[in-house]
Amino acid sequence: MSISSVIRCTGSYLPDRVLTNKDLESMVDTTDEWIVQRTGIKERHIAAEGEGTSVLAIKAAQKALESSGLNPSEINGVIVATTTPDQSFPSVAVKVQAALGLNPGPAFDVQAVCSGFIYALSVADSMIRSGAMERVLVIGAEKMSSLLNWEDRTTCVLFGDGAGAVILEKSESQDGILSTHLYADGKLNDLLYTSGGVSTTGDAGHIVMHGKEVFKNAVGLMADIVQEVLEKNKITPDQIDWLVPHQANLRIISGTAEKLNMSMDRVVVTVHKHGNTSAASIPLALDTAVQSGAIKKGQLLLLEALGGGLTWGAALVRF
Ligand code: UT7
Repeated sequence: MSISSVIRCTGSYLPDRVLTNKDLESMVDTTDEWIVQRTGIKERHIAAEGEGTSVLAIKAAQKALESSGLNPSEINGVIVATTTPDQSFPSVAVKVQAALGLNPGPAFDVQAVCSGFIYALSVADSMIRSGAMERVLVIGAEKMSSLLNWEDRTTCVLFGDGAGAVILEKSESQDGILSTHLYADGKLNDLLYTSGGVSTTGDAGHIVMHGKEVFKNAVGLMADIVQEVLEKNKITPDQIDWLVPHQANLRIISGTAEKLNMSMDRVVVTVHKHGNTSAASIPLALDTAVQSGAIKKGQLLLLEALGGGLTWGAALVRF
């Protein structure tokens, strides 16, 4: 009997405050036109002071739990992908575990920046297949606003806050997570990083990005990885119902869709409303499309992301 892991349900949360491009015009030397043309972003949500990443993660997880119809005791693990934990330790995952009243079981964070959710999904899938866990909350949650230098127009217009969650569970079907593909190339770590850290400057620092270089790498590496997914699963792009990409830049998203010969009406786009929410972006986009009725059970989804590290990854999922 072969075991797989399937996504039972999704949930997400966005903080109340919306920061528009117009608002940013009064903060830095930028324009709505520049931001929309170069990135596709129109607005993003910003968490309130004191509203840490765990608060966002807990709210997204609660939504997923509500829509699952499960009892908290039926979830036996939590994995949170985040770059912006409340504290250096403990993890955001243990806070989610406590807030939801889950029983003791594995709970830990994964740090792979914008690729974090794909990494977390892959780890959860492996743990379910190995028999270590049966039902896991997999969350991407970020308070990227806490890493921004609000005087640096090259980065502060790009990011937003939010969280998305899925409940992944053991299944004896052949569906669910069909393949995951993870990569990192640490030689490229100086293209996108924070200017600080606990063991160096003692503070979190701010995001520094060489945007053009990251852009070039993203276009090439996303094209390569989607090809790898197609070959590994012996499928053609027309069999994919939805591309659910990391939401960093509409030009990167449409470039990947073009390589796959997929029209944009089969691509989930939330970057205009959410900005780049790093590890939260894919589960947020997924839940948005599920809630709107666009993504339906049984459809084939291709998830892909690239972020600081550089890290990148993809997953093919029968939803
Ligand atoms: O999630 C992790 C992965 N991250 C990504 O995938 C992001 C990848 N990179 C990008 O999305 C794009 O490179 C950016 C959106 C970050 C930048 O777009 P770009 O087309 O690569 O612009 P650029 O950095 O080459 O800058 C072009 C010009 C520069 O002016 P000069 O030197 O040509 O006079 C910048 O100073 O735009 C200027 N600029 C701005 N102007 C108005 C940079 N930021 C801004 C701004 N408003 N906010």
